[in-house]
Amino acid sequence: MKIYRAAVIGCSRMGGFIDNEVVGSARIALPYSHAAGYTACERTKLVACSDLRTDVMAEFGRRHGVPRASQYTDYRQMLARENLDIVSVATQPEPRAEIVIECAKHGVKAIYAEKAMAASMTEADAMVEAVEGSGAILNLGTNRRWDARYDRMKEIIDSGSLGDLQHLIIYNNGTLFNSASHSLDLILRLNNDQPAAWVQGHLPDGDRIFDGDILTADPLGEGIIQFVNGVKAYVLLTARASEFEAICAQGTITAFNDGHAWQVRKAFPTGLRGRGELQIEPSPQTPLVSSTLRLIEDLVHSLDTGQPPRGGVRVARAGNELIFGFIESHLLGGARVSLPLKKRATRLARNHTPRQPKYTAA
Ligand SMILES: NC(=O)c1ccc[n+]([C@@H]2O[C@H](COP(=O)([O-])OP(=O)(O)OC[C@H]3O[C@@H](n4cnc5c(N)ncnc54)[C@H](O)[C@@H]3O)[C@@H](O)[C@H]2O)c1
Repeated sequence: MKIYRAAVIGCSRMGGFIDNEVVGSARIALPYSHAAGYTACERTKLVACSDLRTDVMAEFGRRHGVPRASQYTDYRQMLARENLDIVSVATQPEPRAEIVIECAKHGVKAIYAEKAMAASMTEADAMVEAVEGSGAILNLGTNRRWDARYDRMKEIIDSGSLGDLQHLIIYNNGTLFNSASHSLDLILRLNNDQPAAWVQGHLPDGDRIFDGDILTADPLGEGIIQFVNGVKAYVLLTARASEFEAICAQGTITAFNDGHAWQVRKAFPTGLRGRGELQIEPSPQTPLVSSTLRLIEDLVHSLDTGQPPRGGVRVARAGNELIFGFIESHLLGGARVSLPLKKRATRLARNHTPRQPKYTAA
């Protein structure tokens, strides 16, 4: 049984320490960080890491068993020396494209890239070209795609028991790069990764954060997405955080509190004058399992078999395109914008200071 050699670039919260923030959570199962995921997976061994912050990297090495000699401030040196099979890119989105492209050039076979995929669509395109050109595979860290509870939601939609899927609702989209990258990927998956035809978007604080083609902050965003298969998504900014709904022709399924509770309603020919009403059905019960581990196992399965992963670099780009679609629509005064976007140069470039990871769960 081959053991794949794994490394993490970006050794901060999601790379190595976020488990300390979510211990005991009813919504997130451990392992959650990339490093903890590689340790938990019996088919991977975490052998190296890279970060610009040596203090964070030293602590990462202590926690996850990466010796000093395999800690690199220059990730290119690590890629050249460590003969890696799987590499995580758990930096912020701004340096992601450059690092992913270098991984592909160095022959890395599988990449676990954090969300959002890239700081611009031009960079996302370059990532697709590099990853596909080298024959690598890539999964984006949009964890709900590997969350068994949302698999169950998709199974119920796909079963047809509620009729055809017509609408999807994201109740709180949040900021486009940090939060919406997750929720937009979830609705792509629930709609079988069908392409979007057009979007309309509004960024409530959007008028203040553009400097030419540069986006100086990660903006809140809301809007509408029309998919080519007729499904429409309403992407809201409301106080209902991490709640999602699918409305089908004869029923609905709703995730409350990020899948902690569910409601399925089905149409029956009762109600006023027999016009039909939605009645509550038994809720699906799905155990909470680690989505990070399932994502890594999905990469391992693809490496073993040559089959495509559940995510993939093109799906990652489709999610990024929805983000930039909302941005472009806002810049055009809320106009309907066809996808793929013609303008691809708009770029996120924040003055971002990395967070201090929590080294203990206390
Ligand atoms: N999937 C999830 O649920 C989830 C949760 C939290 C964060 N994230 C995502 O994970 C990513 C990282 O988030 P974070 O909060 O851990 O970030 P952070 O800003 O705290 O840390 C980023 C780290 O990357 C390092 N870095 C930057 N450029 C580098 C380079 N060229 N070489 C090596 N290291 C480099 C920085 O020094 C820093 O330690 C973000 O994209 C974020 O959106 C995902």
